[in-house]
Amino acid sequence: MTALSVSTSSAASLRADALVVGVAKGPKGIVLAPGTEAVNEAFEGKLTEVLSTLGATGAEGETVKVPSPAGLKAALVLAVGLGEAVEDGYELETLRRAAGVAARALAGVKKAALALPAESAEEVEAVALGGLLGAYAFGTYKGNGNGKEPVGELAVLAPRKGSKDSKAAVERAAAIGEEMNRARDLVNTAPNDLNPKSFAAIAQAAGKEHGLKVEVLDEKALTKGGFGGLLGVGGGSVNPPRLVKVAYTHPKAKATLAFVGKGITYDSGGISLKPAGHNETMKCDMAGAAAVFAAVVAAKRLGLAVNVTAWLALAENMPSGSATRPGDVLRMYGGKTVEVLNTDAEGRLVLADAIVRAGEENPDVIVDVATLTGAMVLALGNRTFGVMANNDELRDELHALAGEVGEQSWPMPLPAELRKGMTESTIADLANMGERMGGGLVAGLFLKEFVAEGIDWAHLDIAGPAFHESAPFGYTPKGGTASAVRTLVRFAERTAANGKA
Ligand code: BES
Ligand code: MN
Ligand code: ZN
Repeated sequence: MTALSVSTSSAASLRADALVVGVAKGPKGIVLAPGTEAVNEAFEGKLTEVLSTLGATGAEGETVKVPSPAGLKAALVLAVGLGEAVEDGYELETLRRAAGVAARALAGVKKAALALPAESAEEVEAVALGGLLGAYAFGTYKGNGNGKEPVGELAVLAPRKGSKDSKAAVERAAAIGEEMNRARDLVNTAPNDLNPKSFAAIAQAAGKEHGLKVEVLDEKALTKGGFGGLLGVGGGSVNPPRLVKVAYTHPKAKATLAFVGKGITYDSGGISLKPAGHNETMKCDMAGAAAVFAAVVAAKRLGLAVNVTAWLALAENMPSGSATRPGDVLRMYGGKTVEVLNTDAEGRLVLADAIVRAGEENPDVIVDVATLTGAMVLALGNRTFGVMANNDELRDELHALAGEVGEQSWPMPLPAELRKGMTESTIADLANMGERMGGGLVAGLFLKEFVAEGIDWAHLDIAGPAFHESAPFGYTPKGGTASAVRTLVRFAERTAANGKA
């Protein structure tokens, strides 16, 4: 794993193998970003010239490598593009992405120093987090020599003034980034290795490591408790379902948040089997559970003054003689009955059980996170998650917080008329499917039925951004992205700071 550090040395004298600087697109060619001064001096003021000659334009995502002149300790200078030049400070997301691009380009290098614009603690944190996330590589199944090791250490260069704040900022970045990378590992792990039982064991081990309380309901306990959703979805698999509770409490907490995650370790569709072309990436269907798990561990590592409980609704959706049939009626936890018209609409079934269970503990807010619908991907694309809620203020707040931490999201409605399709078409209290149009909202309306009176609830449908299939960009690698983790952590921080939810 890549180590993060912070240094107030000059870019010229810090011992590192590579030195990263920022360049931007100015009105008349490239311009050097703040942080580049000492490096430019070593180039006798000709760094812009050298870089332009090498073809640098300052475009976002661009990297140009130059051997260092005498006067720099590092052997290599890597210039990373920041996009359009600005006078009044680069956006934090621009810094995160640039640091991520640089870190990825430096795979195989032992130590790199990041001399990107980082005056404030917020900027230092952005550079550190982007670097750590960009350095990520999933190597579990690759043989030795089959790909370079991630950069060993990233040293963020920060101003001498406020060095204590810089140090704290880098520690925050490490807590959040390492847990995000852990969530990515979980998503990327092959579904023949990650199943409900092994996921629960990982949660238990992490609970021990970090001092969190972890409780696991196995199939026996789920049967005894009447968790018909989890049992119905998991019934077709040789790997039985689990409901995992991971609790973080703080003695000064004034509010309690419940984060509920969809944890389908593989979604074949069940008897309503997905066709080839739609199932190759369905190991990612536990990304919601990975996100809430990462968020509660990060909350603990940051020592936030708020209680956070993560609920992981884990099951494997498989077809078999013991699988739920389209037409079966499940009795959900809490007593509501659901006619399963399509076994591929399974996420809402496991979430319903977990949302009811979470509600019993009377949290101030429930936020569920789920790769729930293809319809949300059609609506918002591959990089934006949908935010729905039973409270407009909460929905808008989560959307705003996501923006603050660099996650793309969009508020979506829960139109009352779409509920009808789920009630009028069924012999049970509800069907697990309604109208096709607005399918992402229908799924949200289904979940809303299971939220106890008086509890604020929000639903993040991360089906688009949870798993990245094309070329890496910024700090986003191929595969698991850890979508929604930063939004959840920021929400917990905001709740702690406000002393209320
Ligand atoms: N896990 C899928 C949703 C999904 C699609 C996640 C694409 C990530 C990428 C979910 O369980 C599902 O199959 N949803 C169905 C619901 C439908 C049957 C009502 C869908 O969206 O097609
Ligand atoms: Mn499905
Ligand atoms: Zn699914």
